[in-house]
Amino acid sequence: MELRIKGLTKTFQSFDQEDSGVIAVNNVDLHVCEGELVTLLGPSGCGKTTLLRMIAGFEDPTSGDIFFGKKRVNDLGPNKRNTTLVFQSYAIFPHLNVYENIAFGLRLKKLPQKTIHEKMELSLELVGLKGLENRQPSQLSGGQQQRVALARAIIMEPELLLFDEPLSNLDAKLREQMRIEIRALQKRLGITSVYVTHDQSEAMSISDRVVVMNRGKIEQTGTPRELYARPRNSFVAAFIGKVNFLQGEALENSAVRIKNKTFDLEGRMDRFHPGDKVRITIRPEAIALSQGSEEEAGDFPGEIERTTFLGNIVEYEVRSKGLPNLTIHMTNPVTGRIFNPGEHVDLSFPTDTLHPLEDI
Ligand SMILES: Nc1ncnc2c1ncn2[C@@H]1O[C@H](COP(=O)(O)OP(=O)(O)OP(=O)(O)O)[C@@H](O)[C@H]1O
Ligand SMILES: [Mg+2]
Repeated sequence: MELRIKGLTKTFQSFDQEDSGVIAVNNVDLHVCEGELVTLLGPSGCGKTTLLRMIAGFEDPTSGDIFFGKKRVNDLGPNKRNTTLVFQSYAIFPHLNVYENIAFGLRLKKLPQKTIHEKMELSLELVGLKGLENRQPSQLSGGQQQRVALARAIIMEPELLLFDEPLSNLDAKLREQMRIEIRALQKRLGITSVYVTHDQSEAMSISDRVVVMNRGKIEQTGTPRELYARPRNSFVAAFIGKVNFLQGEALENSAVRIKNKTFDLEGRMDRFHPGDKVRITIRPEAIALSQGSEEEAGDFPGEIERTTFLGNIVEYEVRSKGLPNLTIHMTNPVTGRIFNPGEHVDLSFPTDTLHPLEDI
């Protein structure tokens, strides 16, 4: 099922009469295609949960419309919407065993015992809980509890699956495993899904598309790759992975000058006029680093300030005259040469990895 949101706004009134209240969600437009998994990503308080709760029907919009397929659902209660909401694992019933937790919604619907049993078999199989039917929640690991919550949601065969930080109770390793499982299950069942997280790596790994939110508004929507390579502004650039900001000046013919060097950013400088200031990003792994000398002969000579060995990469902090301090990542540190603090290096910025932002 396709989800469409038009001009959706939610204002919470405050108790103080003088105060105009909190605009939790501000004029949001969103389109989620059939079978797609779209993630709402943003810092705490940016309105992710409020938006999700309006989609589920737990919160009334102040203005705007929500469509499931062609049908406007604003006036339908949550139980009339055929959606299920999965949140952290604590949401399962502590006094019911695994089987009864998962079958709960089907029993409420008063389905025949035989149908319940068939659906249960399939769901237990899908989430890998076969054999654990009689356990109490307290006898399950965090990951298993999360699977119960997941099975309880999918057994209802919702048209729309909603997730609100479902993995926040789990440790880092299990979170990584579970997000792969959730993604695989979602793809297999083809259920249109909206997933909320403030963890950018979770958003990147699980989503077809990511919606970056800030203060109730959408900053940018795109595939994980688009957002990483072509963030629209500083907020998105800094929220998705690490990034360096460089200051440049626009020249004629899509050229930009950074310090004294000119780069040709073919076709990517259309918004700018000669003389404009331009904010340019480059990712830490895109900057090339080579042995330098005390004479500082290259275009961008630098000196290593800090070296941090992180296993798969080495992270350098490099000082270079006329530039802000830069973070640089180099791979293959096990066999490669590692620069130490105080060493002289030369930096270079491959032209196609320089990306101008809309804001300055
Ligand atoms: N019932 C409410 N009454 C008043 N203000 C609320 C209510 N619910 C949320 N808010 C406010 O709306 C804003 C958005 O809250 P929301 O819970 O949607 O954020 P979030 O992005 O889910 O944050 P988090 O990552 O911390 O869960 C916040 O400023 C919050 O304080
Ligand atoms: Mg929230």
